[in-house]
Amino acid sequence: MSAVPPRLAVVAALHEELSDWLAQLPDRRCERVAGRDVWVATFRGQSIVVTLSGIGKVAAATTATLLIQRFGVQRIVFTGVAGGLGPGVAVGDVVVARRLLQHDMNAWPLVPRHEVPGYGRAHFETDTALSDTLAWACEQALLDMGLPTQRLHQGLIISGDQFVSDTAAAQALQRDLPDALAVEMEGAAFAQVCHDHGVPLAVVRTISDRADDDAHTDFSQFLRDFASPYSQAMLNRWFT
Ligand code: ADE
Repeated sequence: MSAVPPRLAVVAALHEELSDWLAQLPDRRCERVAGRDVWVATFRGQSIVVTLSGIGKVAAATTATLLIQRFGVQRIVFTGVAGGLGPGVAVGDVVVARRLLQHDMNAWPLVPRHEVPGYGRAHFETDTALSDTLAWACEQALLDMGLPTQRLHQGLIISGDQFVSDTAAAQALQRDLPDALAVEMEGAAFAQVCHDHGVPLAVVRTISDRADDDAHTDFSQFLRDFASPYSQAMLNRWFT
């Protein structure tokens, strides 16, 4: 008898980041919980739960807790878009998080800048095995989409309750956190909740903008035209 894979949650912040893949899910059952639609389904033999977190760290933390405590998920993969920060992290590239950090956490002088009080740490790691699989799926997806020159990056993603659309602010983040590859608004909250519950997490972000003065227009256009096809290609590879 083959082992049943642990129940997996697939999450994005916004409908545009998941719509194509969600639409192809057969026999999904929808539950409305805590203001969210949560779809429960079986996909290619795996028990899955799919939802949209909404934007920001509190919405993300609520969603992660709900998925773990109410829906019993044992692994989570988060997909969506982010602003590129690191040099060479271009629009259309993909970043798989190996570590996440809240760039707006600051309880100094109680604890060092970025450290989460009570945890003795600023960084939360993603799960190595899940992230390895996700990185492989992303590489295949870029080829499937006919985008062999777009790059896959792996490393630090930072999160905060701020849409960064200001070249000076992006430069300040790069100065403070030179390892940061991309900035978004949910991943580090998922990482902290998953750490609390011992649930493996993987996070992937497609770069929609460079977090600069043009970020709001670049983001909207990318979200409308590309975010969903990227997630669909990556998830279809993930589930092969
Ligand atoms: N998600 C996509 N682009 C972003 C940006 N520039 N800032 C924060 N979150 C984002």
